[in-house]
Amino acid sequence: MTDAQRGSLPPIGERLVIASHNSGKVAEIAVLLEPFGLGVVSAAELDLEEPEETGATFEANALLKAEAAARAAKLPALADDSGLVVTALGGEPGVYSARWAGPERDFTLAMAKVEQALEGKSDRSAHFVCVLALAWPDGRTATFAGRIDGSLVWPPRGEHGFGYDPMFQPDGLDKTFGEIEPVTKHGMSHRARAFKALVAALP
Ligand code: IMP
Repeated sequence: MTDAQRGSLPPIGERLVIASHNSGKVAEIAVLLEPFGLGVVSAAELDLEEPEETGATFEANALLKAEAAARAAKLPALADDSGLVVTALGGEPGVYSARWAGPERDFTLAMAKVEQALEGKSDRSAHFVCVLALAWPDGRTATFAGRIDGSLVWPPRGEHGFGYDPMFQPDGLDKTFGEIEPVTKHGMSHRARAFKALVAALP
C-alpha cells in the first residue's frame, strides 16, 4: 500500500473529480470533503467513461478508476473501491462484493450466498475494506486504506445502511451495521477510516 505521509500530498487545486458514476457515493464523498474547501465534480457530470474494474485487489481497482478519470479530465481525481472480506471464504466476496448481488443488485440474495458458503464453518469473522485512490494528471498517485473487523450474523438484522450491512456486526457492538444509525456507522466505518488517512495527508 502506498499510503502517503501526513501532509505530504501534492496540491489538489480547486477542482477534484470524484471518479464514480454512483450518485450516492459522490454525494457521500462530497460531504466528507466539504470542510476542505475543494470543489468536486463527478465523472458522470464530465461525461467520462467508466472503466471496467479488472483489478484483482481493491487498490488496483481504486487506482484504475482514479487514473482513468485524471487522464481524461486533466484534473486530480479520487476513486474508492470497497467490499466485504470473509476469512473462512478465503477473502471472498472481496473485490466481487457488488457482483455477488447480480445484475439486479439484490443484496438479500448476496447475503444468502455468503451464508450458504459459510455452512458448516465455525469461523464467522469478516471485515470491510475501503481503498481510496487519488491520481493527478501527471501520473502521480496515492492510496489510503481503511478496514473494520467484525463477524457475520444470520439472519440479517436492521433496515439501515446498504449492501451487506444487515449481516455485519462490528467487533465491540451487539448490533449490526443495519441496526445502528448511519451517523454512528459513518464515524467508525472502513470508509471513514480511509478518509481520515486521506485528510491527514492533504497539504
Ligand atoms: P464498489 O462500488 O465496486 O466499491 O463495490 C462495493 C460493494 O461492497 C458494495 O456494492 C457493497 O456490496 C459492498 N460494501 C462496501 N462497503 C459497504 C458497507 O459499508 N456496507 C455494506 N456493504 C458494503
